[in-house]
Amino acid sequence: MRIGIGMLGLGTVGSEVYRLVQEGRDEISRRLDATLEVVAVAVRDPSRVRACSVPESLLRPTPESVVRDPDVDLVVELMGGIEPAREAVTHALRARKPVVTANKALLAEHGTELFELCDRRRTEIAFEAAVGGAVPIVRTLRLSLAADRVERLVAIINGTTNYVLGSMAEGRSYPEALAEAQRLGYAEADPRLDVEGHDAAQKLALLIGLAFGAPLHWSAVPTIGIGHLTPADLSHAAELSHCVKLLARAERRTGQGRLAVRVGPHLVPRGSLLASVSGANNAVLLDSRAAGPSVLVGRGAGGLATAAAVVADMIDVARRIVAGSAGIGPYLWASGPLPFADLDEEVERAYLRISVQDRPGVLGRLTTLLGEHRVSIASLVQRGHQVDPVDVVLLTHPCRVRDLRLALEAIAKDECVLEPPCWLPILEA
Ligand SMILES: NC(=O)c1ccc[n+]([C@@H]2O[C@H](COP(=O)([O-])OP(=O)(O)OC[C@H]3O[C@@H](n4cnc5c(N)ncnc54)[C@H](OP(=O)(O)O)[C@@H]3O)[C@@H](O)[C@H]2O)c1
Repeated sequence: MRIGIGMLGLGTVGSEVYRLVQEGRDEISRRLDATLEVVAVAVRDPSRVRACSVPESLLRPTPESVVRDPDVDLVVELMGGIEPAREAVTHALRARKPVVTANKALLAEHGTELFELCDRRRTEIAFEAAVGGAVPIVRTLRLSLAADRVERLVAIINGTTNYVLGSMAEGRSYPEALAEAQRLGYAEADPRLDVEGHDAAQKLALLIGLAFGAPLHWSAVPTIGIGHLTPADLSHAAELSHCVKLLARAERRTGQGRLAVRVGPHLVPRGSLLASVSGANNAVLLDSRAAGPSVLVGRGAGGLATAAAVVADMIDVARRIVAGSAGIGPYLWASGPLPFADLDEEVERAYLRISVQDRPGVLGRLTTLLGEHRVSIASLVQRGHQVDPVDVVLLTHPCRVRDLRLALEAIAKDECVLEPPCWLPILEA
């Protein structure tokens, strides 16, 4: 049997997908008992020199012409962005042609409607590469843990911020670390989506759909970026045997029937598995009722790593085409959205850095204000002496987030406090 592949896009990922399919042709045929054959490819600029050599006869002027091609059984969308990807994917699914995509942005904005369309048309959209690159988290949640109940998901799913934070830990300032990440190709020319945490929020929303069955728009995820951190925070964290990571978290709050969800920088204990995830790598820590804790780690991006996940999805979807089965059942199985836990009611430990003028009585006022708001201090260190500003670095005992927030609002108004305090939650192992 021959399965006709229609590719939309032949850039960084698309070229590697094409190459893997060509080079692995025989191996894939043996595993699949069918041949994957690229029969049509849409690109924007046919004259562009590419990392793979594709016969000119396969190139098509529009995504639509690929989707409509009767020889195309399976559509692989690797253009990125919303349009024309949304329109092409919608056409394919309506025509009951399954889709493989790496397009997180498309799924973050239109996932719910596309998943519903799959269910209605009894077809499927596979998107392993859209979250965590080569880290097989989608398959793990959909298949491996299908009989289990995920209680907690904590992920490093943005390689750019992980790289930048690692570089700041070596002493670079935020702008220097970001410029370096851009030079090395780890950050986009416009890095806002990454450094403001929205890319992680988009991926987390997709993972929450899979892990907890709850449809969720990413803009509802409380999100804090890394732009307010200084190298001092990274070095204070190191002295306290922690590192700083941008984490995407979703945790069931037992008894409340609610999900605590957030994206933001955290202090992570140095001995924990997530602390060892360096550079542009990604990791997802899962805690599920039957399987207990498990961690998936791997390359979160890059042409080849992403392409390997795309081709694995193509083989998986092709298996169902060969078997003549349609679709893979509902994508979202919960009856409705899971309500969020109020983050203000969470109880957690925190790291605080408060930049102050070095004046007599300042420390006393800080500790009094914290105490008045029921925030108990586990440790306090003053960094610097007599040269303003000095950093007061505190770790708290577990405290209610609302109490801490109100305490910091009061502290920020003190005349000796020179900038808004930096506050990071501490991840419990
Ligand atoms: N790169 C990564 O490491 C990575 C990792 C994970 C996920 N992803 C996702 O994978 C997808 C592809 O990323 P990429 O890095 O490969 O992007 P890319 O290098 O910019 O390639 C995009 C491709 O799509 C084609 N294209 C764009 N608009 C088109 C249109 N209107 N009609 C026809 N073709 C069009 C481009 O054609 P031309 O070549 O003619 O311009 C190009 O071949 C994105 O959704 C991205 O978020 C990428």
